[in-house]
Amino acid sequence: MFPSFIFVGLAISIASGGQTLNTCNLAPKGSPYFPRNFSFGVATSAYQVEGGWNSDGKGPSIWDDFTHNNPHLIDDSSNGDISADSYHRFDQDLAALKELKVDHYRFSISWPRIFPNGDISSRNQKGIDYYNDVIDKLLLNGIEPMATMFHYDLPSEIQKIGGFANALIIEKFVIYATELFEQFGDRVKLWMTFNEPLIYCKSSFADARYPPQVDLSGVADYICVDNTIKAHAAAYQVYRSQFYDRQKGKIGIALDSYFYFPMPNETESVYRALQFNMGFLAHPIFHKSGDYPDIMLKEIESNSLREGRLTSRLPPLKGYWKNIVRHSADFFALNYYSSRYLRRAEKPKGMNPSWERDMDCDEIVDPSWMQAVGSWLHCVPEGLEGMLKFIRDEYDNIEVIITENGWSDKGTLEDDNRIQYIKSHLQAVLNAINDGSNISGYTYWSLIDNFEWKSGYSVKFGLYAVDLMSPKRERSPKKSAYYYKEVIKSRKIPNHINEFS
Ligand SMILES: *[C@@H]1O[C@H](CO)[C@@H](O)[C@H](O)[C@H]1NC(C)=O
Ligand SMILES: *[C@@H]1O[C@H](CO)[C@@H](O)[C@H](O)[C@H]1NC(C)=O
Ligand SMILES: *[C@@H]1O[C@H](CO)[C@@H](O)[C@H](O)[C@H]1NC(C)=O
Repeated sequence: MFPSFIFVGLAISIASGGQTLNTCNLAPKGSPYFPRNFSFGVATSAYQVEGGWNSDGKGPSIWDDFTHNNPHLIDDSSNGDISADSYHRFDQDLAALKELKVDHYRFSISWPRIFPNGDISSRNQKGIDYYNDVIDKLLLNGIEPMATMFHYDLPSEIQKIGGFANALIIEKFVIYATELFEQFGDRVKLWMTFNEPLIYCKSSFADARYPPQVDLSGVADYICVDNTIKAHAAAYQVYRSQFYDRQKGKIGIALDSYFYFPMPNETESVYRALQFNMGFLAHPIFHKSGDYPDIMLKEIESNSLREGRLTSRLPPLKGYWKNIVRHSADFFALNYYSSRYLRRAEKPKGMNPSWERDMDCDEIVDPSWMQAVGSWLHCVPEGLEGMLKFIRDEYDNIEVIITENGWSDKGTLEDDNRIQYIKSHLQAVLNAINDGSNISGYTYWSLIDNFEWKSGYSVKFGLYAVDLMSPKRERSPKKSAYYYKEVIKSRKIPNHINEFS
């Protein structure tokens, strides 16, 4: 999931807005059943759940270094050294997955567990064995493994040469991805290269919230996105040319964005903001142009020239790259959490230069929206339906798998608000399917409570609680786990949430 944007809430009345959004509730349209082959799952990521930060030869990641060196920058001064200890206790996760009877499980592979110094010269068989065990146990239990290759935990040694700000990351990533296809591709058929690139590029290179804490906004974050897209496309090329014929898998990239609803007369601003958010990575990969959205290229070039630069801070993709980036994914992996109202900015936004300044829009929250723990997360299921329609219309009805969607609280087992969030968002998915969208799966974030980046353990997204006070880290189902289990069993959205308490 993604962290809080620095967001200035504007105390304005939305009553005059074009559309009234019901708080966390959606009316059904059409069939109440999900298609037979629709896949339900849950997700986690390596640094957030595994622990075992230096077990069995694993190398350090930038998140190990960052949390060890800067505990004061994490809300509860914690780190992922042990977390839910899934590295040693995957069987407890497996028991929860079996109890839910999920169709798929999305997890991420820790790059520094496979290559402790980031490079093939340091290949670590014990790290490979761990994921072999995870994958084999999933398959033995009829659960489809869905693997993310990169979910923020970059090997520290790659950061020493600049990480995602250095184009060498492309070659490094391709070597790592090739190793994963070789080791696991006989059994893993659903891959995601990167998780939420816009989040880690902005947080790592624009506002210095994540390691390596660079604050070169509007420049280094764009370089990071550009290198990520090229690394993704290069890995896709390798898969299609060397592995696809015998492995027959699919590759995606997990992209996140708010959806936006217009303030009066602001429909064009909504399109602009969607292109700056979702379109930034989705347009090059899924649109036939093979390049960044026109509106971004145009605005950023003109801002760059005005700043006295000789070239744009976001140059277009060219020649070779354009050709391999275009259509370099087999499905659209969507992470959706929340939405905003939108209008063109009333005064200049953010740092100069920055993505915020280039986008030039105000994001507005309706104070009546149900709010989670975590300032950015409000329940707006209409936004998921809107995003699915946007993807259908913009990207030729490509197959979509919702790879994250979830609700945070302080950890109560009687989590009725989480159930309401899941219920209303599943209704959005079902409405979109009934409206012709090509959606094949839904993944709740997260299976278990885990290390939530800068929020540490103060924010909980799990269907299962984890007892952090106990060395055995016992998992306990929340009310929402029983609810989701009933969804999976009945293939529809149960009406009453109280019958599962
Ligand atoms: C919206 O646009 C219409 C037509 O251009 C105009 O008549 C109306 O006053 C505008 N409303 C607002 C709130 O700006
Ligand atoms: C859904 O996506 C799949 C995979 O991309 C594609 O083969 C199929 O034609 C799509 N279905 C529709 C109705 O567009
Ligand atoms: C699921 O089944 C429907 C209806 O039989 C079919 O149109 C669709 O392509 C299938 N989707 C996948 C992902 O297999």
